[in-house]
Amino acid sequence: MNKIICIANQKGGVGKTTTAINLSASLAVAGKTTLLIDGDSQGNTSSGMGLDKSSYKDGNLYHAMIGQASLTSVTLPTALPRLEIIPSNQDLIGMEVEFIHLEERETRLRALLKALDRNYDYIVIDCPPSLGFMTVNALVAADSLIVPLQCEYYAMEGLGYLLNTVKLVKANLNPALSLGGILLTMFDPRNTLAHRVTEDVRNHLGKKVFKTVIPRNVRLSESPSHGLPIILYDIKSRGALAYMELAQEIIQGEM
Ligand SMILES: Nc1ncnc2c1ncn2[C@@H]1O[C@H](COP(=O)(O)OP(=O)(O)O)[C@@H](O)[C@H]1O
Ligand SMILES: [Mg+2]
Repeated sequence: MNKIICIANQKGGVGKTTTAINLSASLAVAGKTTLLIDGDSQGNTSSGMGLDKSSYKDGNLYHAMIGQASLTSVTLPTALPRLEIIPSNQDLIGMEVEFIHLEERETRLRALLKALDRNYDYIVIDCPPSLGFMTVNALVAADSLIVPLQCEYYAMEGLGYLLNTVKLVKANLNPALSLGGILLTMFDPRNTLAHRVTEDVRNHLGKKVFKTVIPRNVRLSESPSHGLPIILYDIKSRGALAYMELAQEIIQGEM
């Protein structure tokens, strides 16, 4: 059965794409067949996985969303045997407007994933930094949500809006959606504020926060420019170890 995980936070730069790429790769390396979906028109997940833009200009998530192609036909292999990807690019930008009069516009991605003829253990969807059309589609399609929070002063700012959107989606479109967990990212142990933020978030959100904390690690920020998940770029780095630990936490929690 496909377990669908959506990675969302309307704030940019909190580690969504880094988490989508490296969690997917870690799940695949742990033996789970995984599909990674790039839901952001910026295409950072696609380029971070080393895809050449020209290879998917005529077949990407957009073409499936508008009904011009099947999801399977826009799914591409990656350097990891158990990991496949559906890429995106700027084609996605206009979609919200194109879909404005369409019925069931929020359930589009869910319908496509339900109709998939392939069975993955996990499907991981990376969202754009907004609570717009693609994020709502991802929340409607998902079984659970991971919210990356950067360990900085304003970490929890805006979290209320996101959780409220989740509530609305749950009430109206996807009662099965659950908050899988809050993921603390870019943790710098030398920064005293980071310790306080971590404590604050754990006090507020308790069990909803993953035990695994992703450290700030320069290897994680370098790997996308090589088109590789961290596990193929520097498997011994603290970043790689942290994402493998997160994958284990998810597998064991059967999230
Ligand atoms: N744990 C980390 N350590 C160091 N740099 C990171 C880490 N996580 C993300 N980054 C870097 O921070 C920037 C924003 O991360 P990204 O995953 O693209 O965020 P988002 O998708 O939420 O906008 C990127 O340049 C990325 O390489
Ligand atoms: Mg991103």
